[in-house]
Amino acid sequence: MFALISRIITIMVFCFSSLIVYAKDIEVTRMLNDLKNKQSSTKLKQHAMAMGKQRALLCSQCHGKDGNSVQSYTPNLASQNPIYLLEQINKFADGSRKNYVMNALSKNLSDEDKVNLAIFYANMRVKQVKTDPQLAAKGQPLYASKCSVCHGEDGIGKANFARIAGQQVQYVEATLRRFRQNANMPLGQKAERRSSIMEGVTKVLSDDDIKALAAYIGQMH
Ligand code: HEC
Ligand code: HEC
Repeated sequence: MFALISRIITIMVFCFSSLIVYAKDIEVTRMLNDLKNKQSSTKLKQHAMAMGKQRALLCSQCHGKDGNSVQSYTPNLASQNPIYLLEQINKFADGSRKNYVMNALSKNLSDEDKVNLAIFYANMRVKQVKTDPQLAAKGQPLYASKCSVCHGEDGIGKANFARIAGQQVQYVEATLRRFRQNANMPLGQKAERRSSIMEGVTKVLSDDDIKALAAYIGQMH
């Protein structure tokens, strides 16, 4: 009898959690469709950008008025791929990527806000970052052999492969070090940010490699 009840409860929990995952998938697909729709029409895009710009007042203190951030440890959002932006905002909102401020802010954004913000920032222009030319020269061959397959020769990435050209140096260094650190953690375990792809890539990088790569990436445009 007890075994039967516990089996029924297990099945109910399973059905319920599948339902939640399913509902989340539908929501994400709807946001992606909304994003594509708005980008394909000049009028809708202009409206989305105006709405996004208003919402971006919440963000400008750190990410700058036009998505060129004010601190080297805060990522630029300007020129970033909109699908990547939307995906990361969703990750902050559901807690799978962790940052105290970003988690709190993203939870309070509506689906529409998220889409408009992604479109607004994607259409701003990222400024090239000044970096050490000698370090950047060391980073160039590393980038070509290990990174360009996914992030592109010019660093602009595609869809949910982040644009990294012109990204802030300290942010890139810290992000790569964090991925490298997480590489030795079992996959189920939570961390500030997980990506099996980037963990695999960074596992073999030395501190010097990371510094050189960040210098090269920052000055790309
Ligand atoms: C108090 C400062 C602060 C504010 C305000 C803020 N952010 Fe952030 N944001 C950060 C920091 C710091 C990170 C990097 C977190 C990390 O290290 O992973 C970040 C990361 C991001 C990322 C991921 C970028 C990438 O390249 O992966 C997005 C997207 C983003 N923020 C969007 C927003 C939006 C939209 C708002 C306004 C609604 C906002 N942020 C407000 C500090 C801030
Ligand atoms: C097989 C494809 C692939 C390769 C190769 C690759 N990346 Fe990535 N990279 C990704 C993906 C996908 C993401 C987004 C991860 C996520 O969703 O959090 C990413 C994210 C990043 C980020 C974070 C961007 C941001 O704005 O937060 C940086 C920095 C980065 N990669 C640098 C590199 C560097 C440097 C190399 C070469 C040493 C490299 N990547 C090689 C696929 C790749």
